[in-house]
Amino acid sequence: MSRVNDVPRGTDGTSFEVLVIGGGIIGLAVAWRTAQRGLRVALVDPVPGGGAVQVAAGMLAPVTELQYGEEPLLRLGMASNERYAAFAAELSELTGLATGYRATGTLAVALDADDKAELSELHTFHQRLGLESSWLTGREARRLEPMLAPGVRGGLLVSGDHQVDGRRLAAALVRAGELGGVLTHRAEAVELLVEGDRARGVRLSTGERLFADQVVLAAGPHSHRLPGLPPGVLPAIRPVKGQILRLRIPSAYAPFLSRNVRAVVRGGHLYLVPRADGELVVGATTEEQGYDTTVTAGGVYELLRDAHELIPGITELPLVETSAGLRPGSPDNAPLLGPTALPGLVAATGHYRNGVLLTPVTGDLLAEYLGTGELPALATPFSPDRFAARSQP
Ligand code: GLY
Repeated sequence: MSRVNDVPRGTDGTSFEVLVIGGGIIGLAVAWRTAQRGLRVALVDPVPGGGAVQVAAGMLAPVTELQYGEEPLLRLGMASNERYAAFAAELSELTGLATGYRATGTLAVALDADDKAELSELHTFHQRLGLESSWLTGREARRLEPMLAPGVRGGLLVSGDHQVDGRRLAAALVRAGELGGVLTHRAEAVELLVEGDRARGVRLSTGERLFADQVVLAAGPHSHRLPGLPPGVLPAIRPVKGQILRLRIPSAYAPFLSRNVRAVVRGGHLYLVPRADGELVVGATTEEQGYDTTVTAGGVYELLRDAHELIPGITELPLVETSAGLRPGSPDNAPLLGPTALPGLVAATGHYRNGVLLTPVTGDLLAEYLGTGELPALATPFSPDRFAARSQP
């Protein structure tokens, strides 16, 4: 990875207009988009491009992942989804790196009568909201995806829910930031520096201190744990573990699947994401047990068992990787976007299951706020002060 834009050592007291703490894809997108507006931007992370994206399937699924009562999140997700093709093209043109963005669509299927009833309710909800989704019989679903189990009862075809390769996207965002003048410090942020009543910068594990007019906290499930952060400024961002598998589709089996396939199996979300390069990602568990990222036999077993129920032929494929990561879940599972109660501190965190999907829109909305001081209307339902307001008497 190029280090051309790394700041030389010994720059204690360096000042920027914007300092981003956290170089996951959210922090990277915010830094890049903000630098594009002409602001002097620094980003701090020991391993930029790491974090949850390294374990994500990369489904861009605002419609198939829709939950009741989450309409504002749907609007944000749809806005991001609409930007994705252009966002990916701009990144690739700038960096020469592919992002693996693929407009495949998604097929959500039902394996039994209960799943079918649930999927049918989701279809009704889609129709009520004017979202594009079509009901298929089991036979129609299997005609589209012949590897589906014969018992599949029906499905929903959502032609606008696509995919991107999170690892490639992260690499492209790191490079775009470098090319765009973001000064990257590959070090740990060990303390938020607060002067008077204002966030002023950060102290790094190297001992350096960096100062900025505005500090963006984009440290995923570690955001609220940054030493120096005054109590009550951010709610706890809980780590929600996801285990995921990567298999390979030998060319003799291609096309094994032509689009993302998902189902609810035993109450858990199962999805299979086939990439253009022959990788097949199978995810994911949802486990709330702190900051543990151990891959367990039980997690792998459950994913393979459920995937086999959906696509029996999966057991023929080589299994090439198992991994686990942490989704950053806010108290209401929606992101925190915009200024916090601490002047000078801006949040871009808590994206939970939607980090990859929400990356383009988060980059745009935060860059606009950082450049103009105005939080765009699309972001206001996600203002961090919704938690502060709830704790008022
Ligand atoms: N968005 C998929 C997941 O979090 O598992």
